[in-house]
Amino acid sequence: MENMVKAAAVPDAQTLSAYSGKRVFITGDTGFKGSWLSLWLSELGAEVTGYALPPGYPRSHFELLGLDRTIRHIDGDIRDAASLAKHLRAARPEFVFHLAAQSLVRRSYADPLETFSTNVLGSAHLLDAVRNAPSVRALIYVTSDKCYLNKEWEWSYRETDELGGHDPYSASKAAAEKVFQGYYHSFLKHRPELGAATVRAGNVIGGGDWAEDRLIPDCIRALQNGKPIVLRNPDATRPWQFVLEPVGGYLAHALKLAQAPQRYAGSWNYGPEAGSLRTVAEVVGRIIELWGAGKIERETANDARHEAMLLQLSIDKVRGQLGWRPVYDAAKSIDQTVRWYRTMDRGNASAADLSRAQIREYMAAAADAAKAAH
Ligand SMILES: NC(=O)c1ccc[n+]([C@@H]2O[C@H](COP(=O)([O-])OP(=O)(O)OC[C@H]3O[C@@H](n4cnc5c(N)ncnc54)[C@H](O)[C@@H]3O)[C@@H](O)[C@H]2O)c1
Repeated sequence: MENMVKAAAVPDAQTLSAYSGKRVFITGDTGFKGSWLSLWLSELGAEVTGYALPPGYPRSHFELLGLDRTIRHIDGDIRDAASLAKHLRAARPEFVFHLAAQSLVRRSYADPLETFSTNVLGSAHLLDAVRNAPSVRALIYVTSDKCYLNKEWEWSYRETDELGGHDPYSASKAAAEKVFQGYYHSFLKHRPELGAATVRAGNVIGGGDWAEDRLIPDCIRALQNGKPIVLRNPDATRPWQFVLEPVGGYLAHALKLAQAPQRYAGSWNYGPEAGSLRTVAEVVGRIIELWGAGKIERETANDARHEAMLLQLSIDKVRGQLGWRPVYDAAKSIDQTVRWYRTMDRGNASAADLSRAQIREYMAAAADAAKAAH
């Protein structure tokens, strides 16, 4: 165990420099987390191929960054197994990050079949493509903290806890985990040079997210339009984390998988420290303070759709075995997020400069945290 902790998966500059010149395939590069991952990897000198539907929102982070010019992007649907397999094989990647998904709980109620076909069958297509791509050394397969059957208890969910979901999104992520297990045990683990892991992150916040029905983009849209911020579950708590925390963890984890495929396989939570848990109302209160204006209204409509109230992730496994830990606390995570939108709102910087600067700042903070820990 001691050795494993020393082989830390903190996203330090020297470790991540291993991506220079490496071929990487990302599904979901046009999305929120995928665009940050693509930017970070292209900053590290990786040869990135992205495969996803076109950006779903105007002013998407992907477009603001000009990623269509810095990486090789393919407009493609993961529900099209043949197309996905053809493009993945042609890219000859060593590293694969699977992030493409229908990622919204509310939309999963509106279109459950789209959610299941993308998140379950689309993920099976990705696993099948990896199975038939001999170049791949590491696969990071992104699901969600919502893959756990939520028992509304005060304990943190551990990787061994029961999977399940009461809404189509959560159920699709639990199912995606099961599909992974089937592929892993039947096929992937028999390739000794290939490491594959599922990663379960909490509620991710950061600049460049414009999705509907997500707390931060909803707040920013309301603030920009001078409207009240309407909250449906102000008392719900979530494992909020800054986008570069899980993304940096995935980057470091994939390198470990390529080095020691069996040891770092399996399922891993990536969440904040227990002390970083905040209610929706607390997060929004801080956003309003930083923005300098705004007010909260409680949603009055009788909405019967289920949403978990309490969700916490245990990060003991990833901390103990990979040496990963969060760098920012809740306050810093919210500050960095609001700073991104505020700066863009005032037209003070290009998104590419701003996002690159936030990656550099995060790396510097990670280096300081690592020094302090020694
Ligand atoms: N954002 C969060 O708080 C959070 C938390 C936990 C887990 N996750 C998971 O992380 C991953 C990335 O999340 P995100 O926040 O970047 O989501 P996002 O909605 O911003 O991006 C989703 C990406 O998937 C692509 N996509 C959707 N359907 C597709 C299809 N049929 N074919 C090809 N591409 C398709 C989109 O084009 C986009 O690039 C998802 O698996 C999501 O479920 C997100």
